[in-house]
This record gives sequence, structure tokens and C-alpha cells, in this order.
Amino acid sequence: MKMNKNVRKQGKKQIKTNLMRCCRPDSGSVDLTTRIKDVVFRNPLTVASGTFGTKDEYAPFVDIERLGAVITKTITVKPRRGNPMPRICEAAAGMLNAIGLQNKGLQDFIEDKIPYFEKKDVPLIVNIAGESTDEFRMLVSTLTKYRHVVKAIELNLSCPNVEKGGVSAMRKRDVILDIVRTARSETDLLLIAKLSPELGDLIEIAGELVSIGIDALSLINTLKGMAVDVRKRCSKMAKITGGLSGPAIKPVALRYVYEVKKKYKIPVIASGGIMTAIDALEFLVVGADLVAVGTANFVQPTATLDILDGIKEFCVQNHIACLDDLRGSFKENRPAT
Ligand SMILES: Cc1cc2nc3c(=O)[nH]c(=O)nc-3n(C[C@H](O)[C@H](O)[C@H](O)COP(=O)(O)O)c2cc1C
Repeated sequence: MKMNKNVRKQGKKQIKTNLMRCCRPDSGSVDLTTRIKDVVFRNPLTVASGTFGTKDEYAPFVDIERLGAVITKTITVKPRRGNPMPRICEAAAGMLNAIGLQNKGLQDFIEDKIPYFEKKDVPLIVNIAGESTDEFRMLVSTLTKYRHVVKAIELNLSCPNVEKGGVSAMRKRDVILDIVRTARSETDLLLIAKLSPELGDLIEIAGELVSIGIDALSLINTLKGMAVDVRKRCSKMAKITGGLSGPAIKPVALRYVYEVKKKYKIPVIASGGIMTAIDALEFLVVGADLVAVGTANFVQPTATLDILDGIKEFCVQNHIACLDDLRGSFKENRPAT
């Protein structure tokens, strides 16, 4: 694999520092520490991209230094206004969104967000999307220069709400592979690919990405859906379709995390309907390394910390001293005799 020499040299030096300063261990009797590549997370709790503001919006509710990591809203090269409103709508067991990657762009991220997270003792995972392979390259190489704050890069390869660089474009296998290969050649930081079943055979794609050097997978992004206003006879959202998230997609997400973890040796960040500690524990039992809380943040702003407390309580009650004893402990059902 090709990698810029300087990037590799810088990376080795940083690994040691990362392990030391990335995070202080979580206090309490249960060891929730999680490690992926060279990044140490004090616990497995993180936030799903796009559901936790962009900087300090959740500060009144959540001390982010208690989280295992923060995953940012998708950052693009140029600022994006997003799709016209209405662009969110409630569904029976979740929500539809068609935000369309609204964000202030890379320059703003460097000038405004990096200085904020620099002062926080929490690993930052930056989620990015490009309209072309070159844009992905530029985002990855620029963000790698901020490795004292940026501990990982999550490639959003599965946004259902944009035309260029969205899930439809990524259905072409060579496009997705080209982006991941390019990103890999630009960074030695923990590199994560965020996928959804909308891309095609997710298990097969996961295998291909593993073989070209991805470090971890984020499973799953939203599933494309829609809602109709029968009085007006039109979609409840301006863009007609949107991404379905929340409890409605949890069984689908759980199935993919289970199958990917069973088939490949690859760390997985799970997202999809994690609303309670039991939801998060289900993902951990099938092998998830981190669990990302998304839609639940809109229902209950303290959801991440409530879930974290619930996981600790479950471990104490069940005499689990170390989360690794629980992670991946799923037992296949025995056929009835
Ligand atoms: C309002 C909203 C905005 C989102 N924005 C992004 C985004 O910018 N980038 C991304 O990769 N995923 C985005 N997602 C997907 C979430 O990160 C998550 O993968 C998905 O919602 C499933 O988790 P959940 O069911 O817990 O919400 C968004 C989801 C919602 C609900």
C-alpha cells in the first residue's frame, strides 16, 4: 500500500502520544476501555454523525469528556446549505431526514471546530464526504495534519440525501474502492468506512474494503424511505425521500453488525436505533466495538450518558468486570433436537 513517507513517520511518533493522551480511563469498577488500532476510547459510547450538533450544542446536557469519542457531522470541502425544508419528519418507529449534509465546510471546521475540540479530552472522529475522489483525498490529507485532535476519519460512503457523492454514486463498486484506496494512501490515521445496505451487498462490500486496508466499519447509515401527506397528496418532505433512522432500523443494523463481525476480523462502530442501554448491549454482545447513539439524541439529549450509565449498571449487576468479557459473547442457538 502506498503512503506518503512523512505521514507514516509522523504517525509512528503520534501512536505513543495517542495512547497516553487520548483519554483518561473511565472511573468506576467496570473496565469499559475499548481500543481500535492505536486509539484508546475510555468507553464504547459515541454519537452518530449528524445527530449531536457540530460543536457545543449539546454542552448543556452532555459532558463530552465522559464519552468514548465524538463523531462529527459530515464535513465537506465547501459549505453546503443542505436540502430545502421540510427535511425531517417523524415515522412510526423513528424519523426520516433529508438534511443533505448541511455544514460550513472544511475551512470553518479548521478555524472554529478544531480549536474547540483541542481543549477537550475526548477522541475526535471526523466524518467526511466528497463529491469526487479528489475531494475525499483533499479532506483526508488536510485533516491528517490535525492529528493532535483528529484521531480518526470516517468516510461517509452512504448518504441517501445528496446527488453527487451520495449512496447512489457509491453503488458503483469501483467508485467506492477508489475512494477508500485513495484515502488509505493519504493517511495512517484510523480510517473508517460508513456503509448502508443501500449500497448493495453490504457483507461483500465490507469484505472488499477489509482487503484494501480499511481499519474499521461504521454500520449502518440510514435506509431510504418516504412518508406521504394524504390530504395534500405529496411527500411530507421537500425532497420526497429521506433516510430512515431510529428503532425501526435496529434489527437490520444488528443483523449486519452480527454478520460482519462473524465473517471478518474488523472493528465495527454500530449505529441504528440505539435508544437504551439494552439496545447498546445487544450490539456489544454481537461484537460491536463502539456504539453510536443517533436519533435518541433528539428524543432525550442526555441519551448517551443515560445509556453509558445503564451499561455500567448492567455490568455491575452481572459481575462483568471488563466489557471485553461481554463483547462478542453471542452464542449461536442450538437447533432443537
Ligand atoms: C438528522 C440526521 C442527520 C444525519 N446526518 C448524518 C451525516 O451528516 N453523516 C452521516 O454519516 N450520517 C448521518 N446520519 C446518520 C446517523 O449518523 C446514523 O448512522 C443513523 O441515523 C442510524 O442511527 P440512529 O438510528 O441511532 O439514528 C444522520 C441521521 C439523522 C437522523
